[in-house]
Amino acid sequence: MSELLAASTGDLTHPEPGSVAEWTDRYTHAVMDTFGPPQRVLVRGEGAYVWDADGNRYLDLLGGIAVNCLGHAHPTLTAAISAQLGTLGHVSNFFGSPTQIALAEKLLGLAGAPAGSRVFFTNSGTEANEAAFKMARRNNPDGTRTRILALEGSFHGRTMGALALTSKAAYREPFEPLPGAVEFLPFGDTEALRAAFSPEVVRERGEVAAFVLEPIQGEVGVRPQPAGYLALARELTAAGGALLILDEVQTGSGRTGAWFAYQLPELAPEGFLPDVVTLAKGLGGGFPVGAVLAYGDRAAHLLGRGQHGTTFGGNPVAAAAALATIGVIERDDLLANVRGVGAYLAERVTALGHPWSPASAEPACCAASPRRAGRGGRGAARAPRRADRQPRGTRRDPRRAALPAHARPGR
Ligand SMILES: Cc1ncc(COP(=O)(O)O)c(C=O)c1O
Repeated sequence: MSELLAASTGDLTHPEPGSVAEWTDRYTHAVMDTFGPPQRVLVRGEGAYVWDADGNRYLDLLGGIAVNCLGHAHPTLTAAISAQLGTLGHVSNFFGSPTQIALAEKLLGLAGAPAGSRVFFTNSGTEANEAAFKMARRNNPDGTRTRILALEGSFHGRTMGALALTSKAAYREPFEPLPGAVEFLPFGDTEALRAAFSPEVVRERGEVAAFVLEPIQGEVGVRPQPAGYLALARELTAAGGALLILDEVQTGSGRTGAWFAYQLPELAPEGFLPDVVTLAKGLGGGFPVGAVLAYGDRAAHLLGRGQHGTTFGGNPVAAAAALATIGVIERDDLLANVRGVGAYLAERVTALGHPWSPASAEPACCAASPRRAGRGGRGAARAPRRADRQPRGTRRDPRRAALPAHARPGR
């Protein structure tokens, strides 16, 4: 495929070869220093592996930061993107396209969203949260419902609205003043949550417009909401007329073994529906695409005509990428694979006996993170376990066969 591309694009998109050192030097003179110097300069990916400009191969455990859920250069995704680009690459949002419409319908179906629900497409997670923030501002019919609740430890993105919902001072302070009326509640504290909706606090500060939270926090390690917390949040927001906005930018798109983390029985055994869900990251399998799902008529019509917009959101190629990604996850039963591989990784990481080893009773996605415990999560309470060590290579990896062929190691 890459030879084919090189042949048809000539030198336009394939710069001359260079070493990692040469490319790193050029990077530091051409690219803004917001990320620091690159760890490596990567030239190719296939399945679970990437190669740097010196020809070294790496097992990619970062996955584009929760993005490359089909691995690199997945043939179906590549074909879907190429075919759509060769058919209709971009149209303005004054027009619709079949892939955009089909993706909206597909997402609403996977979400179990009721009649009247709608989707707004974006290009990234922070843009999805920006739109959700604007929906929260519109949930204010008489001008007094201005408070927005968020959680300590949250991360919602880097644009000004999303940053206002993000708790970390180092991210926020250089850019203050940020959009106001956001209150940060302590993580997992049901009393603080009840108090925020209490008549006394409402009398003093006003009604709550929205509560924005991640079902599993990602910035502070991997920290799932405690059992019962999401149900309480649903109960209080519904009773108080506030929107329950779930940021599933990182946890959505099948990454936890369910399409959305709010569907995990570990987090919400009784099941519930939020008012708004934001998505991005894994949604396009590596192609930039985000979405805001508005559940039901009320949420779906908070933003009226002309009140929000985007040039690229819902672009036909991005929509084709998302449809193909979802299609592969369904076709290859990858949600079951996430659960299986997640449980296997949890077992093996826990067996390392590191003080930050996770608890075993987490959702598959959460349990695998060695950063998870030691930061106040449930895993912190567990005594580290001794590894049940076996020499390398003597134990057959039971999950290897479950990996999609293109993602298996050792190919
Ligand atoms: C939970 C969550 N929300 C929002 C974002 C922002 O997404 P993006 O980087 O696509 O703007 C991130 C990114 O890490 C995230 O983890």
